[in-house]
Amino acid sequence: MSIYTLAALLDKFGHENHAVCSFNVYNMEFTQGVMQAAQEENVPVVLMISELALEFTPLEMIATICQTAARNSTVPVCILLDHGNSSAVIQECLRMGISVMFDGSNLPLEENIQLTAYYADLAHRHHVSIEAELGSISGGESQIESNTRPFTDPAEAERFMRETGIDALAISIGNRHGFYKGKTELDFSRLKAIREKVDIPLVLHGGSDLPESQINLAIEYGIRKINFGTDVKFAFAQAMKQVLSQDPMPFQPIQILSPCRNAVVEEVRKKIRISRGEGRAGRVAAGAV
Ligand code: 13P
Repeated sequence: MSIYTLAALLDKFGHENHAVCSFNVYNMEFTQGVMQAAQEENVPVVLMISELALEFTPLEMIATICQTAARNSTVPVCILLDHGNSSAVIQECLRMGISVMFDGSNLPLEENIQLTAYYADLAHRHHVSIEAELGSISGGESQIESNTRPFTDPAEAERFMRETGIDALAISIGNRHGFYKGKTELDFSRLKAIREKVDIPLVLHGGSDLPESQINLAIEYGIRKINFGTDVKFAFAQAMKQVLSQDPMPFQPIQILSPCRNAVVEEVRKKIRISRGEGRAGRVAAGAV
């Protein structure tokens, strides 16, 4: 199967009431696990390489793993740099035909617009897509902690879209990376207001640990791509803990890594099923917001 740009994938599969799932991958086992789940569920998928993860696996190596997996896939795949911030890494991704998410969310609005527009132009000249962020989504894959503009302002979102030429917009509506502390309530009124002003796909980062009902509503109100990382990493780590606590302790890599990869498959399948809206039942019409 050929590799899709983010815009092409979301255009084709991110329809009304449907979001494409996007997963952080770190190595071959994560990538294989995500791909197995996507193929078993027969859905398109985004493989995200976060800039943070490149400290562990060099770009060329993880990109090659993702590209090989995508080429051999029975479902459409997009490969995306997640939370790109370094000019060198972004340019290398573009050169390799990888779509990018540029994260200028810690910058003042004018600078974020200027730099995002620069990278959008560059990405399009390389025939790939660009996602960017407005408002701050803290924790996890984002190394950026900013409390100055925590939530996405709908009017600013419209201007950001218009002046940058991006293909997808990551918004902040109470979502964060990692585990949520306490009760999670996304700001659906804000999402609705943004949706009314912005006609490119909206992206929800921080999909882990979000109640199914919140994910369902987010999709009903216009989210077209949802990012997941933490829950899958946690499932991988738990499987590793379990296998290594056996006595005698297994030491063959295959014995250790197979259960970890299987845990990725199971967790990713869960996320895909939730995002596909199994059990979603017209909560918007029922006046849930
Ligand atoms: P979680 O780790 O909270 O699922 O978020 C992942 C993400 O948004 C990557 O950009």
